Amino acid sequence: MKEVINDIEILSEDANACETIKISQDTDSSSGKKLYIESYGCQMNFSDSEIVSSIMNKEGVGTTSKIEDADIVFLNTCSIREKAEITVRRRLNQINALKKHKPELMVGVLGCMAERLKSKLLDEEKIVDLVAGPDAYRDLPGLVKEVESGQKAVNTFLSREETYADISPVRLNSNGVTAMISIMRGCDNMCSFCVVPFTRGRERSRDPHSIVAEAQDLFDKGYKEVTLLGQNVDSYKWSPQENNKAKLEKSEVEEIVNFADLLEMVALVSPYLRIRFSTSHPKDITDDVLYTMKKYNNICKNIHLPAQSGNSRVLDLMNRTYDREWYIKKVDAIRNILGEECGISSDMITGFCTETEEEHRETLSLMDYVKYDFSYMFYYSERPGTLAEKKLKDDIPLEIKKRRLGEIIDKQQQISLERNKLDIGKIHQVLVEGFSKRSKEQMQGRNSANKVIIFPANGIKKGDFVNVKVNECTTATLFGEIIK
Ligand code: SAH
Ligand code: SF4
Ligand code: F3S
Repeated sequence: MKEVINDIEILSEDANACETIKISQDTDSSSGKKLYIESYGCQMNFSDSEIVSSIMNKEGVGTTSKIEDADIVFLNTCSIREKAEITVRRRLNQINALKKHKPELMVGVLGCMAERLKSKLLDEEKIVDLVAGPDAYRDLPGLVKEVESGQKAVNTFLSREETYADISPVRLNSNGVTAMISIMRGCDNMCSFCVVPFTRGRERSRDPHSIVAEAQDLFDKGYKEVTLLGQNVDSYKWSPQENNKAKLEKSEVEEIVNFADLLEMVALVSPYLRIRFSTSHPKDITDDVLYTMKKYNNICKNIHLPAQSGNSRVLDLMNRTYDREWYIKKVDAIRNILGEECGISSDMITGFCTETEEEHRETLSLMDYVKYDFSYMFYYSERPGTLAEKKLKDDIPLEIKKRRLGEIIDKQQQISLERNKLDIGKIHQVLVEGFSKRSKEQMQGRNSANKVIIFPANGIKKGDFVNVKVNECTTATLFGEIIK
């Protein structure tokens, strides 16, 4: 169940953090054909849907925000927890009803569930005509033609090179102020609970020059904030050798570029372009990254640093390759270099294989130590093919998983409120993203630490940077007034 508290969704036991749906905006279509695309899962998937729309646009297929108007429906899917897949299957059932009235409607499943199930999806879900994994999107026009010629089409080939570096994404559901830039794909970590290495393949970094060019282009178009995306951004690495190996076009960058270097390159696009990034892995984040954040005002002071658990034995079983002490040292480094005001958020899993009550309490005590501003919290969901599924017993009963999840959610609510109260009386620089969800009299935006702040509209436009003095707060939102 999703509780909506003050404009922000707090995730409770049935929610999948990453399971928001985004529906495409309308773009022109020269072929007369229209694509409707719905995305599930993480920001990487939303970003991929923008690449897919761009590829289809080049073929003359426009996007529509109304499923009834579509000739092609793509669901860009997520496999991270069992519920994510159940949601997609339910949606396919609904679309089936639509297809009864419109038999020519083409239905494609893209993304992680497509990659995990491959052609099995065609047998299991009769309505599906096309299956394409995350590295197969350049082939979509060909796959669509196959379906048009009366066949079912599948491409789930995983690549070691594909980064879609040359494809300029069509910005879907954009507020015209903030945008995502994919800087890498795949994941080489083998967290034992996680399906991502199997659905997204090997880690590869995108040419830094193409990333900077995309940031510059967004800035020129009026965007004011970019989020650099990857499953593990701190292991971003580009070298000219890898460029040659990948047989990509010659890059203008000759030196090895790590994530701290890339951050600096993007920060230099303009002091008026804000930079965020996600996700940081505790084993890989370096002091260099923290010092680069400190050096540039336009790099937002917010780090998403998923801990997953506060207990070293469980972390070892999860194959996270750090322990509680290592994690705490990283948090101390953030506090020392960037101060108390830097936002820190986490992902947590309760009820992982063999987790004891005492070990669960260590997760609660880690939360007390770090004082996270925000967390995505889940109970463990066993995923086929993962190391944990093969080697460990999913032995914590569901009601215990849920009870523990409830406890960490309560803890997070209490800490979020505590952290938000510290902001009262302070002046924050806010990038205005648009009207607040409740009223056209109020605008909302985020401060550097990624907290949502609501304030009276007073003629302010979205895309403006304003100084807001915070007067009140709830667990999820700050409220304030503009200071001239
Ligand atoms: N690359 C990111 C995480 C991507 S998946 C990282 O390493 O932090 C997003 C989150 O989903 C994970 O951080 C984890 O908390 C959660 N998750 C992944 N697999 C899960 C599973 N099998 N059951 C429950 N939660 C899971
Ligand atoms: Fe999954 Fe771990 Fe990779 Fe994150 S770092 S995507 S949790 S395997
Ligand atoms: Fe889901 Fe795939 Fe992202 S499994 S969380 S959509 S990488």
